[in-house]
Amino acid sequence: MVLVVLVFASALSVATFALENGLMRTPPMGWLAWERFRCNTDCDSDPQNCISENLFTDMADRLSEDGWRELGYVYVNIDDCWSSMERDEKGRLQPDPERFPGGIPKLARYMHDRGLKLGIYADIGSVTCEGYPGTPLDKIETDAQTFADWEVDMLKFDGCHSNATEQEQGYPLMSKALKASGRPIGYSCSWPVYQDCLPPKVNYTQLGELCNLWRNYYDIEDSWDSVQGIIDWFFDHQDVLIPVAGPGRWNDPDMLIIGNFGLSMDQSRTQMALWAIMAAPLFMSNDLRTISSGARSILQNKMAISINQDPLGIQGRRIVKEKSGIEVFWRPLSNNASALVFFSRRNDMPYRYQTSLRRLNYTTGIYKIFDVFTEKTMMLKGSTDFVVSVNHTGVVMWYVSVPAELNLGQFY
Ligand code: GLA
Repeated sequence: MVLVVLVFASALSVATFALENGLMRTPPMGWLAWERFRCNTDCDSDPQNCISENLFTDMADRLSEDGWRELGYVYVNIDDCWSSMERDEKGRLQPDPERFPGGIPKLARYMHDRGLKLGIYADIGSVTCEGYPGTPLDKIETDAQTFADWEVDMLKFDGCHSNATEQEQGYPLMSKALKASGRPIGYSCSWPVYQDCLPPKVNYTQLGELCNLWRNYYDIEDSWDSVQGIIDWFFDHQDVLIPVAGPGRWNDPDMLIIGNFGLSMDQSRTQMALWAIMAAPLFMSNDLRTISSGARSILQNKMAISINQDPLGIQGRRIVKEKSGIEVFWRPLSNNASALVFFSRRNDMPYRYQTSLRRLNYTTGIYKIFDVFTEKTMMLKGSTDFVVSVNHTGVVMWYVSVPAELNLGQFY
């Protein structure tokens, strides 16, 4: 009887976690071309910035030589506008011959030789969002096999120019085809964006079974308004989104735009902090050749990254929304630790926010606080009031742990 129950239970768990490709057990990290470089194909007059193999090898050089790879930023991802306007004589996608003269396999080798991975982009519709050849239903198996033959490591599958029926058939079909290709390929699905982002149209349980990550919401742009709109949407819908995230299956609020032109340093810290709280994929879309040291140090913040990459993979939540414009976010982490973010939506001077860990649902006891961006440490009693000074549109981020010598057991 015990055996029967066990067999039944394991059959059930297989059914619940169908996408066992073993990939992306923590949120994937790397670099993605789209937000910063868009569909710039003008290599004649803008050779440094056009979508070409040089752009990707330049970024790979920076990732491997400037300390990014060691921190986990390993994916180098091509987005739209990489392909030729025509498929080849065998019906396969092919890169634009002038902009990618070495072909994709050579680019993949370039990444692998440096301990990096290569991602590519396709679209389930008749054409991609920018009008390049799409991957309609009858081309899905061919394209999955082509990407595997090229030794690509990740696919972003977009949904422009497709209808609901094609999406319903195509996203699962691509998941199956990638698995059947014989190569582990991380699978990013843009499906929810094309289904108005929320249940009942979006079935997040099914997405977790098909995809490693999914774009829930609209495109990020290089502005604070855009970042704030994304933060609002994700935390306003946290009760829908938190339960579906976990190792191998992530909500994706879109790229990090830190290092571009739209965010102040405070706003950049806010994006980094809240993407860590959300257990979000960390794909930078910036120019690593010219990035400022300030932006680099935010993106390379070891504690923010380790919070993002916590092995439990539990997505954090907003726990306080004050009338004053202060919000508090919390994420449970391994080793009885947690992360707290104090965020100010105000428009004036740094705001002195007073609270206590007790009021933030911690028990009374002693905690060790590590301030993620100032790197200062202090001890704090759960019952003691404290004040944090939060710059407007900025954050204070803490890693909260229980000192080993005082570890009194389970806190949550
Ligand atoms: C859509 C996606 C973006 C990007 C563009 C490319 O808008 O959401 O992330 O891939 O298409 O055309």
